[in-house]
Amino acid sequence: MIFKVRNGLFCYGSYWDTDMSIESNLPPAVGTLAEYTEAPFERRTEWATEGDVVRITGEEADHHMAVHPDHVGEVLFDTERFTRLDTFTSVFGQGVLTVSGDQWRAQRGAIQPAFVPQKIQSYAGEMRDIVRGVTADIEDGETLDVRALFSDLTMEVMLETLFGGSEGKKETISEAAEQITEWFFESATAGEVPPEVQDGLDSGLDELTALIDEMVARRDGSEDGDLLSMLIALGANSDPEYTEDRIRDEMITMLFAAHETTALTLTYASYLLADAPEVERRLLGELDEVVAETVPEPSDLDELTYTEHVIDEALRMYCPAHALFRVPTEDVTLDGYTVPAGDVIHLPQWVVHRDDRWWDDPTTFRPERFEGETERPSYAFFPFGVGPRRCLGEDFARAEAKMALAGLVNEFSFDRVTQEFDMYASLTAVPDRPIELTATARR
Ligand code: HEM
Repeated sequence: MIFKVRNGLFCYGSYWDTDMSIESNLPPAVGTLAEYTEAPFERRTEWATEGDVVRITGEEADHHMAVHPDHVGEVLFDTERFTRLDTFTSVFGQGVLTVSGDQWRAQRGAIQPAFVPQKIQSYAGEMRDIVRGVTADIEDGETLDVRALFSDLTMEVMLETLFGGSEGKKETISEAAEQITEWFFESATAGEVPPEVQDGLDSGLDELTALIDEMVARRDGSEDGDLLSMLIALGANSDPEYTEDRIRDEMITMLFAAHETTALTLTYASYLLADAPEVERRLLGELDEVVAETVPEPSDLDELTYTEHVIDEALRMYCPAHALFRVPTEDVTLDGYTVPAGDVIHLPQWVVHRDDRWWDDPTTFRPERFEGETERPSYAFFPFGVGPRRCLGEDFARAEAKMALAGLVNEFSFDRVTQEFDMYASLTAVPDRPIELTATARR
């Protein structure tokens, strides 16, 4: 078998033989990767008007943006022919977010028991107590940096529920999370990461590793089945794959996946609510009916349907995961075009969630659009991904977001200090400045 190099990847000789026909059947080129990385959100919106599958030319590999919901489903359900981008490996090593095939199946299966409904129900009590503490600390008339507030809240929830306590850990984790965000931003925009950003990431990860090692060392086996003790037990008892390194990678993955995304969702939801009195009125009506105290009880969560629509609408308009990326392992056909093996496919929530073929008046914040039946294609909304690799923490995130939003809105009304912001694309979609809102006590 002859191997040749194309786009920096090894390919079978037969691939090369058909290269001419592939070239003539590639999706239409709309611009370059350099143009894209300068302004990802604007370019995606602009280029989506050129077709459902378009090509962004790159020096090493071309990228292809697919914006039809059918393509979203086609790509995300097929985990054999489409794998995740390996950029994530530099940060998350062999954690569940990055690995593929049997290794992924085994790892996902191993941590899944931490996310079953009974577990989420038991975490919800902890979530309620943390939200109570946060609302109690807010003063009437205070101007809040809501991203910082929610980042702290979601980190506390994650550490208390999944990792056995938050004491002495938050600062190291939030500093590392900042370095990770910066690193992904630079690697997406500049391609080559500046040395100081690489150094920042390396030292952030070193500190995180030291913290995790300490967390593991402090365990004595008496802990009651949180995620960390499950991982340690896997390593100690049954699974030779669960080495210390693997446990560390899994922890770093979870520490990042489980807090920043939900914090951003709450940030955007509260920003949108602060300028939507009609939505706020309906939300308060539901809370009045369902919630006896200020913060919901775990058993209230299922009844908070309008609250859930508010969260979905925030996830639609400002999805923390602004795009999913996949790499085809063989040449594939999308919308009649050939996408060669080794190129990169973008499935941008940012575009699909704002496409006026599926969403009326897409730039208006209107949670009612999630009520009742819809003719919208199934995968026009995929904030948590779809298919086998769909977010493992979706139920956790939804419970937490409902608890926090309901608790805060029941106690305070918000007004915008920050009127506008731009987005930048790191691993998540991040506002380019602090989002400040003033909180006014309702009673
Ligand atoms: C609103 C909050 C969240 C959003 C928008 C979100 C979104 C996502 C997305 C888009 C993916 C990738 C799907 C794909 O590539 O197909 C993902 C994967 C993942 N998420 Fe979340 N997530 C959120 C919260 C959480 C939380 C709270 C946890 C854990 C407690 C979590 C754990 C994970 C894990 C472990 C994966 C990897 C799944 C796999 O590869 O099998 N996420 N999430």
